[in-house]
Amino acid sequence: MSFLKKYAKKYWLPFSVAVIFLTIEATADLLLPTIMAQIIDVGVANRDMDYVLKMGGIMLLITGFGAIMATSRNFISSYVSQNFGADLRADLFRKIQSLSFQNIDKFDRASLITRLTNDVTQIQNFTNGLMRIFVRAPLLCIGSLIMAVRLNLDLSIVLAIVVPIIAILIILNMRLGFPRFIKVQKAIDWVNRVMREYLSGVRVVKAFNQFNFEITKFGQANLELKSTSTSVSRMMSIFGPMMVTVMNIAIVAVLWFGGYGVQNGNIQVGEIIAFTNYMIQILFSLRMISMVFIMFVRAKASAGRISEVFSEENRMVDTGDFLDKKGENQQSPNTKGQIDFHNVSFTYEGASGEPVLKNITFTCLPGETVGVIGSTGSGKSSLINLIPRFYDVSEGSVEVDGMDVREYNLKELRGKIAVVPQQTMLFTGTIAENIRWGKENATEDEIKRAAAIAEAESFIKAAPEGYDTLLGQGGINLSGGQKQRLSIARALVKQPEILILDDSTSAVDLTTEAKIKKSLKEYAVELTCIIITQRISSIKDADKILVLDDGKLVGSGTHEQLMADCQVYQEIHYSQMGKEVL
Ligand code: GTP
Ligand code: MG
Repeated sequence: MSFLKKYAKKYWLPFSVAVIFLTIEATADLLLPTIMAQIIDVGVANRDMDYVLKMGGIMLLITGFGAIMATSRNFISSYVSQNFGADLRADLFRKIQSLSFQNIDKFDRASLITRLTNDVTQIQNFTNGLMRIFVRAPLLCIGSLIMAVRLNLDLSIVLAIVVPIIAILIILNMRLGFPRFIKVQKAIDWVNRVMREYLSGVRVVKAFNQFNFEITKFGQANLELKSTSTSVSRMMSIFGPMMVTVMNIAIVAVLWFGGYGVQNGNIQVGEIIAFTNYMIQILFSLRMISMVFIMFVRAKASAGRISEVFSEENRMVDTGDFLDKKGENQQSPNTKGQIDFHNVSFTYEGASGEPVLKNITFTCLPGETVGVIGSTGSGKSSLINLIPRFYDVSEGSVEVDGMDVREYNLKELRGKIAVVPQQTMLFTGTIAENIRWGKENATEDEIKRAAAIAEAESFIKAAPEGYDTLLGQGGINLSGGQKQRLSIARALVKQPEILILDDSTSAVDLTTEAKIKKSLKEYAVELTCIIITQRISSIKDADKILVLDDGKLVGSGTHEQLMADCQVYQEIHYSQMGKEVL
């Protein structure tokens, strides 16, 4: 839980002030029953109106003062807890962003969302609870005990029996509660995960008429959440009333013994009233303490889950050496955009079995267009993920511009490279904003140019508000091919040295694809281009084609060379020819 230290440092001062105010508040609460007893036993018993008024005035003053303290304390506690919550969320978000793919892969995405929202809220609530109840409840409890014992020792025997019973109840409650709260949290994760999957695949669900399956899946998650939550609240609903009952029996006992005492003239009426008042305060504070503990238990579970993210160490060490070596690189412009793979093998972390890439060696020269082809699952996407260092190689090395990617400052390295990922991802916002993602300060002309090369201009112009048309929520939806072209424009506007297209024209028709390729060629004479594709026609005229098969590089060369000596390539070629003939 060491991640909490930072916030303790930041907020200890207002937190302490709130606690001081709480103490004053509690003291005020403690004084009242005793004063009341005196009003009854002295003022009322002797019919001394002046005394009643004087003490009544004092009571009012104390109550008023307590109320002022409570109000200010409430201001402070909400300030501290809200700011703390916002800080924690922001830090967690930043941490998640800083993690490498390898780290993120370990977490279920839905659980990251619950960690950012629900778990942070639990800790925030607990902090707020601390400032409302923390010192007050124990103070009230112990203070009331002392005041009650001072008031009447005989009646206190009842307390000596009742307080331990209630303490045991509270401890039992916590013991049973902790594992259940963790289960509830997990069930919330589950519901979120099912919901997220459903929403991202809603079209598929509809296309395959899988409503019932999805409803059953959601039903299971929902049922689990219901039953865990019910078991928690059932437990709560047993323990709460049990405590109240025990305390009420105790009050009856006090009244009963007290009644005898009054009859014998040993005890005064006011004393009994004050005593029961203190008892109610004790009960009240004990319940508060048990509530804080429940909050604590939930917050502890949440803090553990947040801590898991914070303690995730980014093993992708960003050495930041780039700046020192930059000079060298700039002196030899020939290496701008060069990529070298030396005996690269790669295994996804946690995956068993054979490596996804096996002993791969090749070079892309500056300005070259290199095609990568291979059956699905052969490792094409995994291969290009190594260039911007989304993942680190398991063996061998990847060099960009003559330097190992692990020696670069990540920002510099990724600044050179633009990737159009296989799964297009656009963000809520206008079309222009989405393209500008590639380069924050891109001018309007640059955006238009990128859109033109990506053959996106025609449909952008046809959109209701051109470049200012909103995408996603509240805006228009694009077709798969249109989305792909926007992602290409987004990559182009970055003006990278290396452009990687991962099956980025798969949803674009052949004529448009040919146009994109043509304008790309004119635009990017010096740009190194890696084009992953399933279609031979897309890369037929590339300077070099790499053929992947089951993680191995089984061929490399031009179309003609490969047609002559690469069997896998020939097979792909003929299978596609066949299709075209049909
Ligand atoms: P297509 O995109 O379908 O043409 O395939 P590809 O050639 O791009 O294959 P890719 O590189 O995505 O996958 C190669 C192998 O790696 C496959 O066997 C996948 O199961 C595996 N793989 C891909 N991504 C991951 C991942 O994130 N984690 C793990 N453990 N395995 C992965
Ligand atoms: Mg792929």
